[in-house]
Amino acid sequence: MGCLACGTRIRAALSRRSGGSLAVPQFPRSRAREFHLLDAGCGGGRHALLFAREGYRTDACDASTRGLDLLRNAAKAEGHKIRLRTAQIDVLPYEDASFDGVLVWGVIYYLPLERYAAAVSELLRVLKPRGRALVLVKSISDARKSHSEALSHNSFRVVRAPAGMPWENEIGLELTLLGHAEIERLFGQFGEIQVENSRVTMADGRYADDDWHIYLCK
Ligand SMILES: C[S@@+](CC[C@H](N)C(=O)[O-])C[C@H]1O[C@@H](n2cnc3c(N)ncnc32)[C@H](O)[C@@H]1O
Repeated sequence: MGCLACGTRIRAALSRRSGGSLAVPQFPRSRAREFHLLDAGCGGGRHALLFAREGYRTDACDASTRGLDLLRNAAKAEGHKIRLRTAQIDVLPYEDASFDGVLVWGVIYYLPLERYAAAVSELLRVLKPRGRALVLVKSISDARKSHSEALSHNSFRVVRAPAGMPWENEIGLELTLLGHAEIERLFGQFGEIQVENSRVTMADGRYADDDWHIYLCK
């Protein structure tokens, strides 16, 4: 396992708004037409729409049909062809080596650790050789941890959220929060991995969204 050798520092900028722009160096824009991308756990499809607008061949899947319905309507309204599937992230309904790139943004940490590992294996399976993935997961330093009941070393059930915090809709959910060493171990099957910490503080620094951005190459 080595580091992604790109010469320059790798940065991903994924917009929080559907009107924003997309800059993911791992998914080269210059090859968009031939670059087949999957937005796995797409939710309402904000990133899939950005990919489609940039001209990437885009697929998207999610366990929930609600988000997929929103994405279907938005894609139709804009005239984009995005192939949609209902799927669990750890049982992906795609052939081996289907995609040049996969985005998994804020999805896997909703799975218990056993299924987390299965989701990582599925990600590896559906990527083409030298395919790239960008994954965002939550770290053990995330503020959600201190507002949760610990179920095990890495497993936490969210029990409360201070007013205005972004995890209000996660109350009752079980989250898997991991440290750097566990991330390196779980994603160690990939040929190349680069892990960066992203920490965004809120409420005058009292809380933090603490995430791992994981850049992978098969
Ligand atoms: C926080 S949202 C992120 C959505 C999207 N990736 C984004 O950044 O806007 C988490 C998404 O993960 C999906 N999800 C949760 N568990 C899943 C699973 N086991 N398999 C597939 N999708 C799942 C949810 O339905 C939801 O759409």
